[in-house]
Amino acid sequence: METIIYKLPDPKQAEYLEHAADILRRGGLVAFPTETVYGLGASYAHPSAIRRIFEVKGRPNDNPLILHIARKDVLSGIAHNITEQVWKLTERFWPGPLTLVLPACEHVPPEVTAGLPTVAVRMPNHPVALELLQRVEDPVAAPSANLSGRPSPTTGSDVVEDLSGSVDMILDAGSAGVGVESTVLDMTGIKPRVLRPGGVTVEMLEGFFGSGEIEASWQVEADRPMAPGMKYRHYAPEAPMKVYLGTPETVRMRIQEAIAQDHALGRRVAVLGFDDAGTVYSDAIFLSLGNRNAPEEAAQRVFGYLRECDRLGVDRVYGELPAAQGIGMAVLNRLWKAAGGEVIEC
Ligand code: TXA
Ligand code: MG
Repeated sequence: METIIYKLPDPKQAEYLEHAADILRRGGLVAFPTETVYGLGASYAHPSAIRRIFEVKGRPNDNPLILHIARKDVLSGIAHNITEQVWKLTERFWPGPLTLVLPACEHVPPEVTAGLPTVAVRMPNHPVALELLQRVEDPVAAPSANLSGRPSPTTGSDVVEDLSGSVDMILDAGSAGVGVESTVLDMTGIKPRVLRPGGVTVEMLEGFFGSGEIEASWQVEADRPMAPGMKYRHYAPEAPMKVYLGTPETVRMRIQEAIAQDHALGRRVAVLGFDDAGTVYSDAIFLSLGNRNAPEEAAQRVFGYLRECDRLGVDRVYGELPAAQGIGMAVLNRLWKAAGGEVIEC
């Protein structure tokens, strides 16, 4: 099929957004920017369109989707048990990169929830996303707009690379801001639990709930594995990837050793590392995650670089892991998943 691609901003932006909303209202698929990563949307009112999302992405059927809304009050039509605390959370963090998991109303289609009794909802903080959602009116189910298993798309061209020819429209508004996906917070248990660290940091949530009042770890796998016991590589580059956790010195030493071995075998290597490591990996392609103490930069760059490794056609990828602080926790989580759920501690 032919995919319509609109580049934004454009003087005709309102017209383009109305066209996109019309496609969604009629049961088509539109990829759109959010402040985290690009999403691939289908209207909540069209379960068959939602099923098409799974086909197009090659996504396992048991992995539920997030509903995107433009107005906070829409939440009460989707979820039950919305406590005062949940409303306060939405006041504090919406629109923004926080997804809330709540008990689902009966009429939420199983295509969205993968048959779970809960539903995930968020209000994105991006003018294009918000205007599109306002025009559609019904909530829009949207996973990240990548092929399943590939790094999430942080630019319109990433989406074109993965989905052109298989969706109805792509709204290309350049770079998404945060660069990693929203924080998924499960509000259905006794204690709020972070199922996926993301744009709203654990420190921010502790500021809201009180320290120690939420459960969170970087080592969480929100997406359920396709088969029991099977770990799937998520966000992964094509080349085998290893990631290292330790002091900057020990990490560098281990990566340098690995590079030396690769060179002896004639392999091409890429390293994702922090600026303070810059020149030490002189035998490899160095992809800078920025300043170690400003993990926001790493968040913005990490998915793009994982894609870049494929474009460069390297044989091995090594990654320095950031500390599990601030948005660094989300970066750590994504690199750990990209490396197949293994970390080399040194
Ligand atoms: O930033 C984001 O959240 C982006 C943009 C497009 O909004 N979306 C996104 O969607 O990352 P996706 O489908 O790639 O990730 C959704 C995550 C998955 O890990 C899924 O398992 C989890 O949310 N999820 C969805 N519904 C859930 C539920 N009812 N209970 C637990 N986890 C849920
Ligand atoms: Mg995803």
